[in-house]
Amino acid sequence: MKTDPSPSEERLARFLARSGTASRRHAEELIREGRVTLNGKAVREPGTCVDPAKDSVRVDGKRVKPAAPVYFLLHKPRNMLCTMEDPRGRPCVGDLLSGIKGKPYPVGRLDFDAEGLLLCTNDGELANRVIHPRYKVRKVYHVKVRGVPDKKVIDRLRSGVVLDGRKTAPAGVSFLKRGDRNCWLRMTLHEGRNRQVKKMLERFRYQVVKLKRVALGPLALEGLPKGGYRRLRPDEVQKLQASVAGVDKGKKR
Ligand code: URA
Repeated sequence: MKTDPSPSEERLARFLARSGTASRRHAEELIREGRVTLNGKAVREPGTCVDPAKDSVRVDGKRVKPAAPVYFLLHKPRNMLCTMEDPRGRPCVGDLLSGIKGKPYPVGRLDFDAEGLLLCTNDGELANRVIHPRYKVRKVYHVKVRGVPDKKVIDRLRSGVVLDGRKTAPAGVSFLKRGDRNCWLRMTLHEGRNRQVKKMLERFRYQVVKLKRVALGPLALEGLPKGGYRRLRPDEVQKLQASVAGVDKGKKR
């Protein structure tokens, strides 16, 4: 069995992830469970090479067709879930994406009351890499805070605080605006823990009043109206792919 892909080939698990069949990890499980066939034969090795143009891949007997990858930037408004649907009928990102061919889905999360940049794609491989902490993809937030943290707190936020038993990675923190009763911070993180910005500030008893993601890796929100979306330009796709291309320990993207 071949596991070194030629230019027209790719690894089976990646192919399944890109087709929208499953996440990369779930695809690997499906393969190991023997539920995937390649040209009629069960394969159990996720690294097996396939040529999407020639080979027939089936999961539980059903033919898998490769989806053309699509990449969108979306401006999530406040008070919207970051999911494709909601059983309780609350507004969700899926409502905005429903008309788009290729079934893009949001990569990573923004809280219900947060707004800003969301990458949406059907490229499961890229999505996994953007989310994975190993790639240290940069996320930039504008954060309105009740109160004005002093230098000591800002230094602690920068150097890392212990959340859920684990110290946060070094972060960029600077003032955008400083008032008497509140302020705006610009925070740059290279990890994406659950409610990380809010938890980091809560740790020092500061409440986040507004939270907006303005950049993700090489992508910037600028110019996109709330609730709007646009296709990524080819140069943006290229930069995004380059930013998660290899694992270079310690390198920030
Ligand atoms: N940090 C948070 O607290 N919430 C988000 O939605 C994103 C980052």
